[in-house]
Amino acid sequence: MEQTLAIVKPDGVARKLIGEVIKRIEANDLNICAVKLIHMTKSQAQGFYAVHKERPFFNDLTDFMSSGPALVMILKGENAIAKWREMMGATNYKEAAQGTIRCEFATDIEKNVVHGSDAPETAAFETSYFFNAFERTAE
Ligand code: CMP
Repeated sequence: MEQTLAIVKPDGVARKLIGEVIKRIEANDLNICAVKLIHMTKSQAQGFYAVHKERPFFNDLTDFMSSGPALVMILKGENAIAKWREMMGATNYKEAAQGTIRCEFATDIEKNVVHGSDAPETAAFETSYFFNAFERTAE
């Protein structure tokens, strides 16, 4: 069983897409084993996306991610990392496959509704960024 971090980004929360995203997670047989609504500070967003700190979009991205509440979740299941990324669709919604969350709901390459870890090492960093050990191991 694999764990991954999923986020409903501030655009998704503001547009009342939490229910739509959770409905898809449950329909695809992933378990939500931890969840919280947070409002990141700019510096928390910078820490989370530190891997992108040299990218031209870093400042805008961290402004956006700290602009309002976001729902952070740990998803658990077989191939959870790849499965959740497939459900999200490509980062650029214009390239996202039909039926994916980003294809159906994203409005912008940045405001793309959801986030998911891209590898086991990233998932370990990202899940522990928002959840303590007790929360991460809860069923
Ligand atoms: P996410 O999967 O959370 O990972 C990094 C985020 O940066 C991405 O989704 C987008 O929200 C944002 N972003 C903004 N511009 C770009 C870009 N040109 N390429 C990739 N990601 C971008």
